[in-house]
Amino acid sequence: MAITQIDECLTTRDGRLFIEGCDTVALARRFGTPLFVISENQLRRNTRRFQQAFAEAWPDGAVEVLPAIKANWILATRLILSQEGAGADIYSEGELQAALNAGVAPGKISVNGGGKPDALIEKCVRAGVRITVEDLDEPGRIDRIALRLGTRARIRFRVKPSFPNLWRPTDFAQEKVSIDLGLQTYKSGIPAQYLPELGREVLQRPNLDMVGIHFHAGRHHASLWYWRGLMKRYARLTAELAREWGGWRPREIDIGGGFALHRDPHNKLGLRRDVVETWLTWPLACLLQLLPPTRRYALMRRFVGLFTKTPSRRRAPAIEAYGRAAAGTLRRELRRAGVDTTGVRLQLEPGRGLYGNAGIHLTRVKQFKQQTEPLPMNWVLTDTTYFFLSGGVYEYQFGHFIFANRTDDPPEHVADVVGHSCMADRILPFVRVPAVAPGDIVALLDMGAYQEVSASNFNALPRPATVLVEGSRAEVIRRAETLEDVFRRDIIPERLRLQGQAAV
Ligand SMILES: Cc1ncc(COP(=O)(O)O)c(C=O)c1O
Repeated sequence: MAITQIDECLTTRDGRLFIEGCDTVALARRFGTPLFVISENQLRRNTRRFQQAFAEAWPDGAVEVLPAIKANWILATRLILSQEGAGADIYSEGELQAALNAGVAPGKISVNGGGKPDALIEKCVRAGVRITVEDLDEPGRIDRIALRLGTRARIRFRVKPSFPNLWRPTDFAQEKVSIDLGLQTYKSGIPAQYLPELGREVLQRPNLDMVGIHFHAGRHHASLWYWRGLMKRYARLTAELAREWGGWRPREIDIGGGFALHRDPHNKLGLRRDVVETWLTWPLACLLQLLPPTRRYALMRRFVGLFTKTPSRRRAPAIEAYGRAAAGTLRRELRRAGVDTTGVRLQLEPGRGLYGNAGIHLTRVKQFKQQTEPLPMNWVLTDTTYFFLSGGVYEYQFGHFIFANRTDDPPEHVADVVGHSCMADRILPFVRVPAVAPGDIVALLDMGAYQEVSASNFNALPRPATVLVEGSRAEVIRRAETLEDVFRRDIIPERLRLQGQAAV
């Protein structure tokens, strides 16, 4: 059998894609499509790699991996991370419940987000969950709740610095906007201007224990340059705040998430090309308007091939390189700025970098549709939709894919791989595909983070199931929705029912 290793959990064997020991075509047949599939061993490996990589570069204190549960809050996946000793970064009451239900130690949970309701704060204080403060009135509210409960709440500020050193364009916008500007428009965190006074105030409150400091900028760039730049600013700010707060010393520093996936699906290269294409094609299209339609289309046909896209071959740095760049720079810069790092706990909150490549999405080809006039176009119509993969749509991702039952077949057409919602639903525009037939299975890679959890029911489509694989074992960990589920929340007022009967 010819086996080709694609990455740690994916192989091709005699023309078929396998995830761990499971044939993806057999999974699609057994569990139906569309389907999310998660590799248990990949999740475990990623968690261990983050833990080890950062621990090696941060020898002064403990390192805690607090994966961002928002990326994938399916309880079974979370339980696996809990077994690996990971904590959790959470945002809402629902995510708190998911974390606690899945066995995360409360002392390893951080709740972040602005506008936290008192009910959530109270639950966190009762459970001993640390609160990452984002609003100016939050310390006072936490203090009152802690006082009433007769306890001391652990808090830290989520700091919103400026980054004049980060001038390269951010990947989070389709426009060319610097990372610094992108971060300025991002709502989260307390602007640094308020922190000196707020911190002094908090230090006076006996029911608040200001244990550390929190930063999260997100994945604006995959490069190590970006991480070194972030860490320099974080270190400088931490030192400044420590001085402002009368020699206060952080017991923990949380640097948030934002570590790019190795097969980085942002493919900014492709997006930049889009911008160029738009600027070139629009003036050209205006000129072509001067020609009669037949001549216009004849000319356009010559250019169609130029739009073909291929997923980027470039790879983001490995987890170990991020560990060295982030933790190493932070340690060096803190020491340089006079902050003693001995015994300081380092925390990180990877989302995409930890869950992403552990998941794939399988979809079945329903139709291969073609037109040759006036312009040649091909569509691979699948049984999924980008409404099930919305995380990627929000972030303009363009990822890798494999025809799971034709892994060795050469490309035959350039086609749009599209979803079956009534929207354009272009999941993969203008990609090279083999000779496709209805029933073929397409595997979209790197779907473990943000996709399943942001799926919606547009067109009243029931959301897909998720299956966990470990070796050759496969188990459903989130079942597919039924039509009954889709309409479960609907309530028809009695008066409308009566009117309906009268109309009949
Ligand atoms: C506070 C916080 N931590 C961690 C993350 C995870 O980020 P990523 O998935 O880019 O690693 C997020 C995501 O937005 C976040 O808001």
